[in-house]
Amino acid sequence: MNQADLAVSFQTDGVAVVTGAAQGIGQAAAVALAQQGADVACVDRDADRCAETVALVEGLGRKALAIGCDVSSRAEVDAAAERIVAELGPITYLATCAGVLTENVTAEDVKDEDLDTLWSVNVKGSFNWAIAASRSMIPAGRGSIVLISSQAGLVSLPSQAGYSMSKGAVATMARSLAIDWAKHGLTVNALCPTFIWTPMAAPMLEIPEVHAAAIRRIPLGRVGQPRDIGGVVAFLCSPAASLITGVVLPVDGGWTAGEPELPL
Ligand SMILES: NC(=O)c1ccc[n+]([C@@H]2O[C@H](COP(=O)([O-])OP(=O)(O)OC[C@H]3O[C@@H](n4cnc5c(N)ncnc54)[C@H](O)[C@@H]3O)[C@@H](O)[C@H]2O)c1
Repeated sequence: MNQADLAVSFQTDGVAVVTGAAQGIGQAAAVALAQQGADVACVDRDADRCAETVALVEGLGRKALAIGCDVSSRAEVDAAAERIVAELGPITYLATCAGVLTENVTAEDVKDEDLDTLWSVNVKGSFNWAIAASRSMIPAGRGSIVLISSQAGLVSLPSQAGYSMSKGAVATMARSLAIDWAKHGLTVNALCPTFIWTPMAAPMLEIPEVHAAAIRRIPLGRVGQPRDIGGVVAFLCSPAASLITGVVLPVDGGWTAGEPELPL
């Protein structure tokens, strides 16, 4: 063995698309990918809301592009992808962090329109971007896609049936795309974060009883910060993770590993 045979790289040189990049997990993914060498297209509903993320990426010496796009619209996604390829180059990495959580209600009260919203944004939005990115990745014979599912796609919380079903579909999507696209050299994985301090989760975590109950359930004793997910996104896009595909990976401080409180 020589050094070259054993060398590993955590670099993400190339063009990354991050959806939901204006805040929270998407912002952290954009910064982590830029730190490791990627130029980043920052996609969110409204391009202006991506200004802070664009400044953070540019501050790391990488190119950034703010793109306004509703991920649930195939036409908007396709147009956005074309613009990204024209302005930054072919897409090498995709992190689908755009997502929504509708009202927490027990299953019998889930509204039909909320189910449609969850499916359109969380499931179709991720799929639309995976298809658009694959148009760059398949001809290049290279690319990494990280879909943000949720711990809710693995274990359920009360009053989140609609959200959990949508996140289960995202986890399934990662396996399906991984199998279809392995022959083209692409990796596709899903991350399942536990509670992460972001604008989406803050209204729940700011309820002291909810925060305390979450901490009790997490063996590592804390909820996550956006960088806890950003770092894993960048790792899964890097050459160091090139043999990982079709994985549905909890990033949950041990929540899904088991029950920490049983007094045995
Ligand atoms: N925060 C958590 O505790 C947590 C846990 C597990 C999974 N997740 C998932 O991680 C992802 C990111 O969550 P977050 O906590 O950063 O949420 P967030 O609400 O803070 O950020 C989500 C971003 O997605 C954007 N977005 C929503 N719908 C969109 C659409 N149709 N088109 C384009 N952009 C859209 C929003 O504008 C927002 O900027 C989501 O899929 C969420 O379900 C979050």
